[in-house]
Amino acid sequence: MRPRAFLLVVVTAAMSTGCSRTAPAPAPADAPGTSGPSPARAGEDASSAAKVFESRILPIFKSQDPSSCARCHLASVDIKDYILPSARDTFLALRDQGLIDLDKPEKSKILALINRGADDPKAAGLISAKRQKAEYEAFAAWIEECAADPAFRNAPKPDKAPVLATKPVEVVRHSRNDQMLESFEKNVWSLRFRCMNCHTEGTPQNDKLVKENGARVAWFKKGGPEATMEYLLASKLIDTENPEKSLLLTKPLGEVKHGGGIKIVVGDQGYKQIRAWVEDVAAMKKGKYAKATDLPPADAGPKQFGTEAWFRLNKTPAAWNGKLLQVDVYAWDAKAGAWEKEPIATSDRVSGDGGWQHTVTLLAAAGSDRAKAWAKGKPALPAGKYLVKVYVDSGEKAKKDWKAPLGADEYVGRAEFQGQWRDGYGAMTVVDAGKVVK
Ligand code: HEC
Ligand code: HEC
Repeated sequence: MRPRAFLLVVVTAAMSTGCSRTAPAPAPADAPGTSGPSPARAGEDASSAAKVFESRILPIFKSQDPSSCARCHLASVDIKDYILPSARDTFLALRDQGLIDLDKPEKSKILALINRGADDPKAAGLISAKRQKAEYEAFAAWIEECAADPAFRNAPKPDKAPVLATKPVEVVRHSRNDQMLESFEKNVWSLRFRCMNCHTEGTPQNDKLVKENGARVAWFKKGGPEATMEYLLASKLIDTENPEKSLLLTKPLGEVKHGGGIKIVVGDQGYKQIRAWVEDVAAMKKGKYAKATDLPPADAGPKQFGTEAWFRLNKTPAAWNGKLLQVDVYAWDAKAGAWEKEPIATSDRVSGDGGWQHTVTLLAAAGSDRAKAWAKGKPALPAGKYLVKVYVDSGEKAKKDWKAPLGADEYVGRAEFQGQWRDGYGAMTVVDAGKVVK
């Protein structure tokens, strides 16, 4: 190493003349009491870049607290992933990944990553805002020192590059809070009417249950999906070790005694969605996503919107009793003179004796006008002509494989009807099951 280090001194001494920041002239490497940068030992101990690293960056690396990144990234990102135990390795890794701009240190990409959202008034006063400022200032000061220290600036690209613990961008993207929220809205928030209003904060049903059971039953928050997701993520209702044992599933399944009784069964839409979401949260929190191919398949399905519109199949045959029954509702496209190709609403539930009924969940392709309108206002179906396709899981396929969709094997028939789709249990849209034919 020595001969190489010596070479470096020669090169860097020549370079330092053009350096915008006035650095003290390099002192003889072993002179006692030197305080200025000592290129021969750059990145080891004596340089001020190394000192700043020691006093400001290492404490961040060693901290037990989550970094400021946690405000927007649920997992897969931490400022610690951008730090290695030595100043030199950290510098080389960041530089060689293009995260440091040596000519305009303040424009370094790592600083932009750290500072994202710093001026958001919503963040003011949060612990994470303080942390963000501290992280930003530490990195800004250190990078400036590195950029001014020729020994750092000009350190040759090592044969064996130091490796950061950062995750691929796909993984980072997947675990971002805003992405998680989108998935939460679709998978869990849209289900809230399946839980009737028992858990919806601010409704008379919930107020009553809160009096009897405490504030914990008010977990669908008045503040909306974001507040609800935040609450659930911090609660004990998600079991990251055994996601399928999460109370969010075992309570409505009735596997654990539940004040609301059995509200979902293994493999129904509610189960599928809650399970997929808790599995995803658990995998993220446990750091199970290392590469893009570890991620669950991209969700290409429609957006979902819960409603309080009830649909009933009346006088169902005895053979359907106790079986999981799914309805897919199709709207009439008057312009095309045909049924729409994709269902506009769906629902499923175990059929009762002589009838099946449930609230419907509306479906609209992401980005469509319909999805936009329902996201903005109250999601509802207009009165009109509709078609229902009915599926009955006689072979208990869903129970055996919770991911299996009901399909051609379970199809029992279809019926055309006039839908009024008024809200409320007392105003159901009713279709006689006898009209359901293949
Ligand atoms: C205020 C919210 C917020 C904070 C805080 C935040 N990020 Fe991000 N981050 C985002 C958003 C939003 C994106 C996506 C940006 C885009 O796609 O344009 C992102 C994207 C990223 C990416 C993907 C690559 C890129 O350049 O877009 C990385 C890596 C990243 N952030 C790292 C971090 C690190 C490290 C921290 C903490 C030091 C952090 N982020 C803090 C919101 C944040
Ligand atoms: C008829 C009212 C009712 C319905 C409908 C209902 N629940 Fe409950 N739920 C309760 C009551 C009462 C409790 C409190 C007693 C208990 O823990 O079982 C409770 C408790 C819970 C808890 C535990 C909360 C905690 O922090 O301890 C979870 C999770 C839960 N329910 C999930 C659901 C889900 C998911 C649905 C819908 C798919 C649902 N419930 C439907 C009444 C209901």
